[in-house]
Amino acid sequence: MQNALSSVFNELEPLTEASRYRVEDFDCGDAGMNSFVKEHAWRQQRKLLNRTFLVRYDPPDSCPGFISLSTAHIASQLTGLFRNQLVYENAPALLIARMGVDRRFQRRGFARDLMAAARLVAQTLPAGCRFLVLHVAVANTPALALYDSEGFRVPEGYEPDENGLLLMFYDLATRKPAGQVGLSFASS
Ligand SMILES: CC(C)(COP(=O)(O)OP(=O)(O)OC[C@H]1O[C@@H](n2cnc3c(N)ncnc32)[C@H](O)[C@@H]1OP(=O)(O)O)[C@@H](O)C(=O)NCCC(=O)NCCS
Repeated sequence: MQNALSSVFNELEPLTEASRYRVEDFDCGDAGMNSFVKEHAWRQQRKLLNRTFLVRYDPPDSCPGFISLSTAHIASQLTGLFRNQLVYENAPALLIARMGVDRRFQRRGFARDLMAAARLVAQTLPAGCRFLVLHVAVANTPALALYDSEGFRVPEGYEPDENGLLLMFYDLATRKPAGQVGLSFASS
């Protein structure tokens, strides 16, 4: 598993002061996500609020996509875990806080590979981590289709919040294993 994690970091580069220039032209079509990766990700990372990873690419001046991760938890009752016997009120999770794929690289499987990378990170943490969790806008059809096909589920009876955001979760213990990450770097 440790080797599998190294393969993630062959494909993903941590966001650093030196690599920030790579996202200057980033455009995934979502203004909030663009401004996050260009303006806020580095500052938040320095405050240890999240960690952002950029897809490596040759030439290295562009960035096909990014993912930003934080630790989190999810109420056990939302997941069906410990339904009969509430052992832990909350279950440990990894939050996919933000993710985007540049328009020029969309529909080539980058997001699927970023999800595989997140699974691998969660499964190789030297700490318990049962779920991946994320929030998605109900109007975001492409992202909903992606998460649904990747095995994420909305908790039973869960309604979108006042901002139209849905909680989705993925059970690392029962869903498909992380497998190999194979980010496809072919330029168009
Ligand atoms: C959502 C997003 C990350 C998908 O990135 P991507 O690299 O194009 O996605 P992939 O090529 O890996 O596609 C995987 C699956 O997602 C779904 N999908 C992706 N784009 C889609 C679209 N425009 N319409 C419908 N389904 C779509 C499909 O199920 C697709 O599988 P398929 O190609 O076999 O049909 C990208 O569109 C994006 O950055 N959007 C703006 C930012 C955003 O919404 N981020 C997520 C916030 S929660």
